[in-house]
Amino acid sequence: MSRTIAILTGGGDCPGLNAVIRGVVRSATLARDWRVIGIEDGFDGLVGEPRWRELTLESVRGILPRGGTILGTSNRGNPLAYPVEENGVTRMVDLSTEVVGNFRDLGADALIAFGGDGTLKIARTLQEKGIPMVGVPKTIDNDLRGTDVTFGYNTAVGIVTEALDRLHSTAESHHRVMVVEVMGRDAGWIALESGRAGSADVILIPEIPFDLNAVCSAIQQRKERGSRFSIVVAAEGAFPMDGQKVVQLAESENRGVERLGGIGAFVADEITRRMQVETRVVVLGHVQRGGTPSPFDRILGSRFGVKAVELIEQGRYGRMVSLQGRRVCDVDIDEAVDSLNRVEPDGDLVKSAEALGIMLGRAI
Ligand code: F6P
Repeated sequence: MSRTIAILTGGGDCPGLNAVIRGVVRSATLARDWRVIGIEDGFDGLVGEPRWRELTLESVRGILPRGGTILGTSNRGNPLAYPVEENGVTRMVDLSTEVVGNFRDLGADALIAFGGDGTLKIARTLQEKGIPMVGVPKTIDNDLRGTDVTFGYNTAVGIVTEALDRLHSTAESHHRVMVVEVMGRDAGWIALESGRAGSADVILIPEIPFDLNAVCSAIQQRKERGSRFSIVVAAEGAFPMDGQKVVQLAESENRGVERLGGIGAFVADEITRRMQVETRVVVLGHVQRGGTPSPFDRILGSRFGVKAVELIEQGRYGRMVSLQGRRVCDVDIDEAVDSLNRVEPDGDLVKSAEALGIMLGRAI
């Protein structure tokens, strides 16, 4: 049976999105002769005059190694709470009826939404309102449940690890403490895994509120053992035991999305003040999300694309593709978005880091 499927990429971009797009288009077109259309800029593309384009084998040629998303994305376009300005006042309006109507007008049978928890929560609601939906888990933060890993995360960990390797030689030459702030929102996965791979001395994650005295003691102990430099990795969502995370923009100032940033500078200032050592702060920022995906993310993204098309063929809507062990399977979208996947403070990944002498922000 011939079908038309629509796809969109929502939330912050991440490496591997184009691999999924290519995976969907190739498996839908080559194996099934289906039509694929791409909605532009996430759910924003279904608000007002719909913005979309045909996706053919030609349109996905050569995109496997490309970062970003050829469809564009938005991490602020929530059609369930869409900011509309009237007489100088901004009101949040539910545009789901318009979005469902626009989707129906496209003549598509189903929609595949690639996104993190924000996008997949919207997808779940729109599925309830009548859009047959399949989700694909995407985010460098790796904070989605229902899958062992999200695509994009592996690339981000690789980028941060390379940065840490490079920072070691300059930190050591100048006998400095380098504080490296990394992304991840309220989950410490990027900080923890790249910090471990990049041989950080201190790793601060949101799941373990940190004790600044203990952090300074760890740096002092290294000094006494002959290492006159230290590398501290701070997740953007990390916060001190007696304080709060550092927010650049509150949800209300940034169309419903809190913008984190600044914990690295806070930690560096405190270390300088308490220890009279020279510190520098490196904020890796969007470098972690940009550029070419790792081989792992290219393959995972491609497998997810193929699986999403299979789910549509089987009429299994409301599902999200997922990696479990080495197998690509699927779970209910609810399972993925009901709570965040965060690092277990007493899990093996943390405990074994501590056993290796890495300081996780707490005295042990
Ligand atoms: O969710 C992905 C992510 O990169 C977070 O790690 C980070 O906090 C946020 O997006 C940054 O968003 P923006 O692109 O709006 O600055």
